This record gives sequence, C-alpha cells and structure tokens, in this order.
Amino acid sequence: MKNPKLLLLLSAVLSLAAVRLAAAHPAEEPQTQGPASAARSVTVRVQECSTDGPTIAREIYGQFSEHLGTCIYGGLWVGEDSDIPNEEGYRTDVLEALRALRVPVLRWPGGCFADEYHWRDGIGPRSERPRMVNSNWGGTVEDNSFGTHEFLNLCEKLGCEPYISGNVGSGTVEELAKWVEYMTAESGPMAELRKRNGREKPWKVRYLGIGNESWGCGGSMRPEYYADLYRRYANFCREFDGNRLYRIASGASDYDYNWTEVLMKSIGSRMQGISLHYYTIKGWQGSKGSATCFSADEYYETLGKALEIEQVIRRHTAVMDGIDPARRIGLLVDEWGTWFDEEPGTVRGHLYQQNTLRDAMVAALTFNVFHRHADRIRMANIAQVANVLQAMVLTRGAEMVLTPTYHAFYLYRPHQGAQFVPTACDAAERQVTPQRRIPEVSATASRDAEGRLHLSLVNPGLEREQRVTVAFERLKPSKVSGMILTAPRIDACNDFGRADEVRTKAFRGAKITAAGIELTLPAKSILTLEIE
Ligand code: AHR
Repeated sequence: MKNPKLLLLLSAVLSLAAVRLAAAHPAEEPQTQGPASAARSVTVRVQECSTDGPTIAREIYGQFSEHLGTCIYGGLWVGEDSDIPNEEGYRTDVLEALRALRVPVLRWPGGCFADEYHWRDGIGPRSERPRMVNSNWGGTVEDNSFGTHEFLNLCEKLGCEPYISGNVGSGTVEELAKWVEYMTAESGPMAELRKRNGREKPWKVRYLGIGNESWGCGGSMRPEYYADLYRRYANFCREFDGNRLYRIASGASDYDYNWTEVLMKSIGSRMQGISLHYYTIKGWQGSKGSATCFSADEYYETLGKALEIEQVIRRHTAVMDGIDPARRIGLLVDEWGTWFDEEPGTVRGHLYQQNTLRDAMVAALTFNVFHRHADRIRMANIAQVANVLQAMVLTRGAEMVLTPTYHAFYLYRPHQGAQFVPTACDAAERQVTPQRRIPEVSATASRDAEGRLHLSLVNPGLEREQRVTVAFERLKPSKVSGMILTAPRIDACNDFGRADEVRTKAFRGAKITAAGIELTLPAKSILTLEIE
C-alpha cells in the first residue's frame, strides 16, 4: 500500500478492532489531534531544583478489607484446618503477594459493615462466637471467626499498620472505648480479657476511624449531629501505655464540601484526619457497566471520572485550608477505586468484579494525583484488597490471580515514603466528555532515601505511542532501568486456569542522551524508571 494516509487509517482501525468492544462506538479522535497511530513527542521536565517536595506518605498505598463477599473469608482467611495452604489460617499465596507490595496500612472491618460490627462477637473461642446477618452485603451469615485477634495478627504478618474503623452508627461510646483498651492497654480489665484470649502484649493501633459514611450506611446523619457524636466518641477513646491514636472523622463522599466544612469547623484539631470516599463509578443508580466488556469511549470516560478526583481533592483541601492553613489535619481517601457491575453468576451484593488493564490505568493515574497533593493526603485505601471491587488479588478455591491493579501498585512501590519531585509535562489533552479531559501522558517523580530518582509515566491512549524526552534541571543521569506494564488489549485481564495476560516486564527502551533520557512509551502502558 503506497498511500501513507490509508496505511495510517488501516492501522488505526486494526488496533481499535483489537479491543474487544462492547458497543461499536470506537473513540473518535478530537479534531485537533493527528492520525490515530502517529507517535507524539512529549517532554517531561523533572524539576529537582524546586524547593523540597512533601513526603509521599507510604499510607497512600494502603488497602481496605471489609467483611463483604469473599474479601475476608476465602480471600485472606481460610482457617487453620483448610486444605488451602495457609499460615495460621491466612492464605499463604495472598500473604506472599501482599508482602511483595509492602502494604503500609490495612483498614478493617468496614465500610458499611463497621457500623454494625460488635467487636466482642469476634473474640474468644471461635466455636462460641455468635453469628449475625451481614445485612449490608447480601444477607450473608457472618460467623465472626475472623475478629480482632485475627485481624491484628494479620497486620503483624504483613508488617503493616492496622486501621480500625469503629462502630458509631449502632454501637456505643463505651463499646468503642473498651475496644481501644482491649487492643492497646498493658493492664486493666480489658487487657486481662485479651490475655485470657491468648494475646499477652497489647498491639499498637494508631489509626482509629470514628464511624464510616456516617451520612449514609453509617447512620444517615447530618454533619452537625455527626460532628457532636465524633467529639463524644473521640473523647473517650483513650491512649494507653504510649499508644498514640490518630483519630479519623468519617468524611465526605465525592462532592459534599459542606460535610467537610461543618466537620472542620466543629471538630477541627480534635481529629488528626478526615476521610474522603471517591469511587470511579458511572452512577449510583442502574448499571455501572461491565468490568471487562467496554467500548473505547467508555474506557476514556472511566479515566475522566477517575481523574476528576483531583478537582474534588482540591476543593476539599481549599475548605480545609480555610481552617487549617498549616495542613496539620490529613485528608485520607480511605475508599477509592473502580466500581463496576458484579460479574455475571456471582452472588449479588458481594461486589466481585474482574480487573483489566483499564483498572491499572485508573490506579496509576490516581497515584499521580495523590502524589501532587501529598502535603494534604496522608493516606488512601483502595477498595478492596481481595475479591471485592478493584482488588489486588482474586481467589477461587485454592487458586489466586494477581490483578492488573496489583501490578500497578507494584510498579509504584518505590514512591512509598519518598520525597515528591515536581514534574512538568507538555502532553496534549484528550477531551473525553464535554466536562472532562485526560492527559496523553501523565508523569510523577520522587526521590527515595538512597537518593535514587523514580519516574513513573502513564500513556493512557489506546492507539498512539508517545516519544518522551525526560529533561532534568540538575541531574546528569548515568544509569537508567525500568519496568513496564502493558498488554495487547486494554480489556486484558488475569483469570483462573490460564497464563496471565497482564504482568510487568523489564523495560530496556530508555536511552541516556545529551537531552536527558529518551524513550518511546507504548500505547496503554505504565512505566516506572529508576534513574541514578
Ligand atoms: O467498599 C464498599 C462500600 O462502599 C463500603 O462498605 C462503603 O463504605 C462504601 O459505600
């Protein structure tokens, strides 16, 4: 074929056809952009000369585990008597996978479940623990075999901080106060009870959530009422024997800036953190769309919705700045991630969804946003760690798969606890809905304690590779290596009983030049470079 325009057109059509489209609505290129498959040139400037950036809290890479579907039972916990290989009841494969991610913090027991959870039901001999109906999540009967000891011991095994979400909606002040005492006191009646249940030394529990979604499943409260309740609950949750509490108020959902304002005014420095929940969801009513079967348009719309979190964070931060300009109170995005329709054939209310390269894109682009706001965002917990929503791992019996999102977390591990380094990227933007645009390349950088620079680059485009020049203000790179996550199709996923379609690979395409570093970033890829 001699006509180059025709060739470009054909290659664009072929690459789009490679995406398994649910509906025949291939994304239309905005008119300002060139032919679909033409590579673009982008410069990413690493601005290491700017004033020192904030630390990217390790806890931004936090996880969330709720008594919901098979997150706990089957996903994390199978019990000591299970045929599934386990370490004191915890799945060995999942433990290993999560250890490799260096999970910094794990939130539990909910979610909505937290405000119906009574901790005393989950201690003592398992055979004697009362049962309850998990009314939020499919009416499943909860046998309480995974309780306080099982959770806190899991955190010890993972080497992560526990984040306890307390029951404000249907529990009492005394109940929560005693729970804190049970977990953290060296001596006294609650410590004696804990010791009788087999745990001599108290655990350290720093993060304490005072309720969850108190405007909704946590009690349908008005912010003024919740703020007063918060003050009561927080007041009686004491600090025992050197255990310092970081008390977290149940914060807003999405665009509810009034909730944040009322809490900031009424609670202020009585809280160390306030939460925010933001899901990448099409809408709360009706179909949320399939996790695996989507059009190119739907893909870009999903990314647009995911990236809108930045505007939401900015506005909550502005409200917080009005009362706390020094940014002492943290904004904790303790629930975030994609929310699609449950997989056909799975239990309703268990929120089991597959996970594709699209989900990994959402994760990486969201991390880039969190990094940019690291001076206010002190924690984030993706929903959820196993078998629920945008999970790290999926399990079926003895099988386990690592999801594309897991690999995105893995690629971003070097940014945990590192110092944020500003970057400027001149990439064009794609209009994905009348209100939302996404960048053609998104970048983030940080410097770790050993002085190594890590640069993560995301090319969300389905068709077009990007020729990237990385320019440095100070550094003269002498060594570069990288790891990349991509797949032939954006809906590629890892599933049981077959080879993984989505996994990380070494990236050898970065070249050191006089300009800095040059590379070609493939379409739909996430890359992390280590630069010395
Ligand atoms: O993560 C699933 C649910 O989403 C949580 O239980 C709740 O807090 C939120 O609405």
